[in-house]
Amino acid sequence: MDQPLGNDRTATARAHSNIALIKYWGKRDAALNIPAVGSISLTLDALSTDTRVTFRSGLEQDEFWLVGTRADATRASHLLDIVRDSSGVGSRAVVESTNNFPTAAGLASSASGFAALAVAASAAAGLSLDDRELSILARRGSGSAARSLFGGIVELYAGTRDDGLDSFAEPVLPPETWPLTVVVAITELGQKSVNSTAGMGGSALTSPFYPAWVDTGKDDLAAMRLAIANRDFEQLGELAEYSCLKLHGLMMSTRPALLYWNAATMAAIHAVYELRASGIPVYFTIDAGPQLKALCLPEHAGTVADALGQVAGVQETRISTLGHGAQLLP
Ligand code: PMV
Repeated sequence: MDQPLGNDRTATARAHSNIALIKYWGKRDAALNIPAVGSISLTLDALSTDTRVTFRSGLEQDEFWLVGTRADATRASHLLDIVRDSSGVGSRAVVESTNNFPTAAGLASSASGFAALAVAASAAAGLSLDDRELSILARRGSGSAARSLFGGIVELYAGTRDDGLDSFAEPVLPPETWPLTVVVAITELGQKSVNSTAGMGGSALTSPFYPAWVDTGKDDLAAMRLAIANRDFEQLGELAEYSCLKLHGLMMSTRPALLYWNAATMAAIHAVYELRASGIPVYFTIDAGPQLKALCLPEHAGTVADALGQVAGVQETRISTLGHGAQLLP
């Protein structure tokens, strides 16, 4: 924890973003933010958030500063309230977050942000939570954040309990065990149009595909666990593309439709197919936005980044290896 100033209680944490191979979409409890399906992700070394939390007596409301600019504190306050309730710390807090990637690039995943916030806020409040408790706390902020507590390959369980205490993430493989690489193709600068909580709510209410999505989630997780245990990259890639396209089919069948892709996203998908036809094992995945993430082995990362960089509409590419879990910073 940082040195306290006066009555301030402060701590700073870093967490990396992650990209799901088997996707989460839909909540079985919206108030407790419990996912309806489990998910499996890769933690990304190249994309991280540093967050400092300072509980300060005399503050009238929580303040959230994102890269030096005051931003809406509602979602951060929700997580801080949980920390205040369990620690007895009554003061409001200043939350200062910075990303090591351009915030306007639409990569500002809530995953790294809420994971860093959970670790920093609980430490600043003097709570000593274990990894499971921290993962549950981060999940209350954003489902994908539960996974960013850990490095490498990570699984988030949907669980069955009403209180959500069995819905937490655990590491599946540490980052060094299987050196996978992700090439991010940025096709659009700017924020996404419909946030994931609103989008998921819409899919659950209106898509005729939603029950099938929830029913088949367990099979996808089991198949992915097997691919990982066998270090079978082709199987991992095929399953990741399948889960991604199944998710986007669900999104497109939502009313009003959630169509997150732009023309460059589609062109990048075809570029991945062409690379694969030329013998390079590379697969894509896409979240609730227009950026494409290509999964490949380290020896092909340069070729994949070059090819995606030449796709019309791709503005920038970034190469990431697998990252480590969230940690407190000195
Ligand atoms: O954690 P949220 O609420 O931002 O939702 C994440 C949803 C997806 O990114 C589309 C899928 C996933 O599992 O990360």
